[in-house]
Amino acid sequence: MKIQHKLFLSFVIIAVLTVFLVKISTYYLIILFVLAGGLSILMARSVSNDDLAEKVKKSETELAAALQDCKEQTVLLDNTKELMASVMDELERTNQELQELDQMRNDFIAYIVHELRNPIIPICEGIAQVVEGGYGEINDKQREMLEISYRGGKKMSVLVNNLLNIAKMEAGKIQLNKTKEDINSIVRDVCDAFLARARAKNIDLKSELLTEPAFGHVDKDKITEVFNNLISNAFKFTDEGSIVVEVKLQGDLIQCSVTDTGRGIAEDDIPKLFDKFQQVGKKAKETGTGLGLSIVKGNIEVHGGRISVTSKEGKGTQFLFVLSKYSEELRES
Ligand SMILES: Nc1ncnc2c1ncn2[C@@H]1O[C@H](COP(=O)(O)OP(=O)(O)OP(=O)(O)O)[C@@H](O)[C@H]1O
Ligand SMILES: [Mg+2]
Repeated sequence: MKIQHKLFLSFVIIAVLTVFLVKISTYYLIILFVLAGGLSILMARSVSNDDLAEKVKKSETELAAALQDCKEQTVLLDNTKELMASVMDELERTNQELQELDQMRNDFIAYIVHELRNPIIPICEGIAQVVEGGYGEINDKQREMLEISYRGGKKMSVLVNNLLNIAKMEAGKIQLNKTKEDINSIVRDVCDAFLARARAKNIDLKSELLTEPAFGHVDKDKITEVFNNLISNAFKFTDEGSIVVEVKLQGDLIQCSVTDTGRGIAEDDIPKLFDKFQQVGKKAKETGTGLGLSIVKGNIEVHGGRISVTSKEGKGTQFLFVLSKYSEELRES
């Protein structure tokens, strides 16, 4: 029960007792009631005002403490911001240094590879001239040895060229000679060059092309190299069945695919396939350096395209890539 109610009740009891004991008049009793009511209201007011004052004081103290806390947090936040800014600066500097080092490494590799390539050409050319009898008769043993040297020289030339291509791509120094080209006709030429190999391996090489031209704005040599690498891989890893090269149009894109019924690629190996020097599921006597697919990917990406692969072990593999269709805006960009 609140204090004002208690007071009021006490006055009522006193008044009633007074009436009984002193027998005062009803008029006096009413005055007593009014006095008791007024007194209890005044008491109640003063009690609630005291409560309120105490609560306000408590809130003020809490508010002051919260403000102090807030100030401390702001200082802490400012310090953290400063620290973050200096860490970011440091990271940016380190990143810049790393980029410079990477550029130096790429330039160095490109230089070495370039210097290696130059002497291979005259070596192979010289051997070829001697084998062809340009410097007099040679015996069978000499021919055999020179032919082995020639094949080694040619292999080295392919490797060095691949390395040079990759070094240029990584240094962002690939120069494209783009023209308006029908991708169908590039595929036709590349497939023709593989017909003899298809016959020798008894593999069905098919090209599914469009009747209409599929014009792209591309460097013909680079896109030819892409199809050459993909089809050559398909032959290398397919013992029987078929290899299908398809060209389709999809909106603004030209979609090309090379699908084989070969040995396929394990799921775990797929993510590393386009990395340099990756040869997965390799059997003895398999040739190659593992550079073909990184060159393919680089060539497609410098054209603004994308490549993907799907494969099932023992069933076959499909490489699929897209290039933009030729347009006047693309030619001007
Ligand atoms: N069509 C395919 N079917 C199965 N495996 C493939 C296929 N294409 C590529 N691979 C796997 O990916 C690896 C990398 O291919 P990539 O063309 O880069 O190198 P490579 O053919 O071994 O050598 P290079 O192309 O440098 O002569 C291959 O060694 C092979 O393991
Ligand atoms: Mg290859």
